[in-house]
Amino acid sequence: MKKTAKILTLILALSMMLSLAACGGKAPETPAQSPETPAEAPANGEGAVDYSTASLDEIKAALTTVVDGKLTMGTSPDFAPYEFYAIDEKGNPSLAGFDVALAQYIADYLGLELEIIPMDFDGIVNELMAGNIDIGMAGISPKPERATAMDFSDVYYEGKQCFVTVKDKADDFKTIEDLNKAGLSIAAQNGSIQLDLANRFSADADVVSLVKVTDIIAELVSGKLDGAYVETVVAESYAKNYPQLHVAMEVPYEEAEGNVVGVQKGNAALLAGVNMALKAAADDGSFAQFVEQANALAQGETYLGLLEDKEA
Ligand code: ARG
Repeated sequence: MKKTAKILTLILALSMMLSLAACGGKAPETPAQSPETPAEAPANGEGAVDYSTASLDEIKAALTTVVDGKLTMGTSPDFAPYEFYAIDEKGNPSLAGFDVALAQYIADYLGLELEIIPMDFDGIVNELMAGNIDIGMAGISPKPERATAMDFSDVYYEGKQCFVTVKDKADDFKTIEDLNKAGLSIAAQNGSIQLDLANRFSADADVVSLVKVTDIIAELVSGKLDGAYVETVVAESYAKNYPQLHVAMEVPYEEAEGNVVGVQKGNAALLAGVNMALKAAADDGSFAQFVEQANALAQGETYLGLLEDKEA
């Protein structure tokens, strides 16, 4: 797969050097005045088709995805109520959360079959860049540096950032200065903006980066950590199940507020389709319902073993 992608990229680069037009990528037929933009092409914006005024039917007709007819979505299910494993009546873990419900809505809206691939959060960027997934939905912040790896959808949710500790240590963390003391053990997730926040606001502390947010919560609860940077709604959700957790304060993150869908770079038709679906889900009340349902499920009696690894 990856080899093929590399070879394709090489071929593309070569053909561009030789100024050969139409090198036979897997992009759709596009209007003559707008040269096609295969997903593998360097995303310099040149030649990109503008789908912002296109109709849903036009977008659907132009859609290309990694697997024909499917929407392949990468997510990191350690992030209730965005995405997590819920336990059904039979005791089986199943993917749940408002990102998961929203992904299904987007797929239905675009007439695609949804395929979800769970992975570590920091893998999502790589998989998008490698062209293995169409979209990433994992409470992604539109951090400017990520714009080279993916296209951002419109913002669909606002999660806010916080510093979370345990109730026993609540008095140690009253002001933002309290977060920056030598000897403190402060965690954030690998590859997340929270790691940037940890390095910014806790530069003098020992900053630990962990693969999963659920690992962070488990280590907080077991007393191994002094605190962590986590999305506020996520910290609040886990605090409902683990009452020893304490959200100490909100932390400012002004450069990239809100959450977006990460769309494979250069797939303009899919980006437009995703944005259209996001708007529809907001307008028809579906998204508000997904959030409500995810919140209820993340705190419900059916939801067990929150921090256990549910992956096979
Ligand atoms: N919003 C943060 C970021 O984009 C964290 C997202 C983590 N998501 C997850 N599913 N663990 O960096």
